[in-house]
Amino acid sequence: MYMQQYKLWLLVGRKLSLRTSLLAMHFKCRGGFYPRTDDNVERYDVPDNKVEWTDTYPDYSPTQYTAQHILAGPVYADPLIGAPGFKPLWNEVDGKVNRCSHEGEYSVINGIPRNMHGRTGVCGRGALGRWGPNHAADPIVTRWKMNLGQKVLHEETKQPVLQFVCIKRRDNGQWAIPGGMVDPGEKVSVTLQREFLEEALNSLDMTSKQKEKAEGDLKDLFNGGEEVYKGYVDDPRNTDNAWMETVAYNFHENESGGLLYQISLQAGDDAQAVKWQDISSQLDLYASHRDFIKKVADKHDAHW
Ligand code: BGC
Repeated sequence: MYMQQYKLWLLVGRKLSLRTSLLAMHFKCRGGFYPRTDDNVERYDVPDNKVEWTDTYPDYSPTQYTAQHILAGPVYADPLIGAPGFKPLWNEVDGKVNRCSHEGEYSVINGIPRNMHGRTGVCGRGALGRWGPNHAADPIVTRWKMNLGQKVLHEETKQPVLQFVCIKRRDNGQWAIPGGMVDPGEKVSVTLQREFLEEALNSLDMTSKQKEKAEGDLKDLFNGGEEVYKGYVDDPRNTDNAWMETVAYNFHENESGGLLYQISLQAGDDAQAVKWQDISSQLDLYASHRDFIKKVADKHDAHW
């Protein structure tokens, strides 16, 4: 009897662990062609049951690809593995470069970091600069949708509708959170505000006085942020050896008529357009941004 129960537990445990890995499974960095390449780089096929490194896949032969503009060696990119003088400290803060994952320790196989969420069909760095984790930060700036001083309730769910500042990315035309890469040594809180100012308020075209004023206006809002996500992003640029991670913060305006009802949005830098977007399950956003937005809707008991 005892043995049978034990076996049942093992089975339940296995089911659970399968489910956990399914929840974290990446989709946008598998199948089809690698994004934004003129070289038509096709990803080696990785079916759902071959994503995890523990799934045997003897024929697996990922396409080797690192984009020309990364090989050209811009300041934000690492050299090739084995290049003279390149002695990266994996899973550590390496000088100013954060090579730690938010999700724990990643494996390094033959001197090359390995994607913690499994196979992608491409090895090398693709269009990403760093081997291993590439860190971003995403500011989710929200307010309530209002009409004549009242929160607008959704027709079906009767829950209040939340809006967030949404940008259209210049690189692929997809709508997204106005996030960006964390510069080496930069604090995430600084990246969050800088990216919002650049992409949603076009601070790059402001005089230093105007920028100072905008920063001052946003100070309270940005001091009151709450973390909603930290970890791996299912980004279409991910490869077996380089991947995106982010920290997403929600900055919410609760006051009807407060700053976020007066501010005028203007797209800049990597954004070609910006708008207040109603939040709902119908959203189709870049990478896993929809998941982060859902977390924010849940947090505020808003319509989804
Ligand atoms: C974007 C972030 C995004 C990250 C991962 C960065 O390029 O600016 O908004 O979360 O990539 O997809």
